[in-house]
Amino acid sequence: MTPAYKFPHNFLWGAATAAYQIEGAWNEDGKGESIWDRFSHTPGKIEDDSTGDIACDHYHRWREDIALMRRLGLKAYRFSTAWTRVLPTGRGRVNPKGLDFYDRLVDALCAANIEPFLTLYHWDLPQALQDEGGWASRHTCHAFADYAALMVKRLGDRVKFWTTFNEPGVVAFDGHLAGEHAPGLQDAALTYHVAHHLLVAHGLATQAMRAANPSVNAGIVLNLWMADAVSEDSADVAAAHAAWERSETLFLDPLFKGHYPNAAYELVGESMPKIQDGDLALIAQELDYVGINFYSRNLYNAQGHIDHVEGAEYTEMGWEVCAPALRRLLNKIHREYRLPPIYITENGAAFNDEVSADGKVHDPRRLDYLKNHFIQTRLAMQDGVDVRGYFVWSLMDNFEWAHGYTKRFGLIRVEYETQKRTLKDSGEWYAEVIRKNEVSE
Ligand code: FCB
Repeated sequence: MTPAYKFPHNFLWGAATAAYQIEGAWNEDGKGESIWDRFSHTPGKIEDDSTGDIACDHYHRWREDIALMRRLGLKAYRFSTAWTRVLPTGRGRVNPKGLDFYDRLVDALCAANIEPFLTLYHWDLPQALQDEGGWASRHTCHAFADYAALMVKRLGDRVKFWTTFNEPGVVAFDGHLAGEHAPGLQDAALTYHVAHHLLVAHGLATQAMRAANPSVNAGIVLNLWMADAVSEDSADVAAAHAAWERSETLFLDPLFKGHYPNAAYELVGESMPKIQDGDLALIAQELDYVGINFYSRNLYNAQGHIDHVEGAEYTEMGWEVCAPALRRLLNKIHREYRLPPIYITENGAAFNDEVSADGKVHDPRRLDYLKNHFIQTRLAMQDGVDVRGYFVWSLMDNFEWAHGYTKRFGLIRVEYETQKRTLKDSGEWYAEVIRKNEVSE
């Protein structure tokens, strides 16, 4: 008998997407321009010169997509709302058609018994707000809180789980330092101001949502990479520890300890943002949950980062496959922070899937990836970590930001020319996992 890992009966099995990556209809029904519309329309920014103009055409095909979610037996669906669909210029005039879209989507999810798990910001800032300074400006924080309240007023009777931000670190660093994401800036000093403003916006929005409807569950989603040492040698361990402090604590510490990490001050010195009175308390408000996005780890020895791990498997993103690092990560953050319940809000892998002669998509590597990460999560739960649910990234192949359509993460294959959807083998397998509520090795 292979061992089976049973999950708690109310464990929330789901899949995740984001508005810009799947919706398309970028300028339909009154939607305003976002920074990702602008960025992808700028030549040279996206690997395959593509855009999210059409993407998976989910804006028109959402009924079919919910039918596929039912086929998977999903208990929950994590999606994001496009700010510019409901507030085309970020504040002020509301676009009723945009609100109606999410209203219909949420109704259909509820009718299908699928818990809606809503993210307010998955990177698509209104371009009009960017033109006024974007996240470098504190005004944007207030506009975000107003948007959050608007959404809760309309959907809060049916949507229980509200996430303010998806991966604020990626917003700050990829968007404002590396310049590989919208708005494509490369400005080190600005990056930390943006990071602080994202956290302030998170705090303001959390207050605004609770004021609009005290029963909402408010949370935030962080992407974390475990920092492993190559050996137990103290120099290697110290290198891994320093790397963790440098790159993973910038959001965890203020959110769950109420202050910025010393490492941030050492790194940026003078460029640390001006923290106003009350900011740190606002940021560290109790949350109802925290979402963790996990894909891979970083490995260190005393000399620094090890770029290629001998014998390891890598995904198409160039990320090492290392499921045990997820268990270590969950235990680490559980030990070092006083956290609310955890949801794995993203985990998955990009591989070059092909459609076989039998019309199916055989993707054993994705299946194994998910299986091993599910098992490591279950083990972390046995270690005492409170994990309540799991969202596979992604429900379907989609627009992978700067990589365009070159990376496929889906449980469902999307043929972009025809928009044909095909459930992959990993999807069929996931449906079984959900049905049995257990994973076998
Ligand atoms: C995460 C993003 C998600 C997707 C995955 C692969 O950083 O939140 O939208 O791009 O990576």
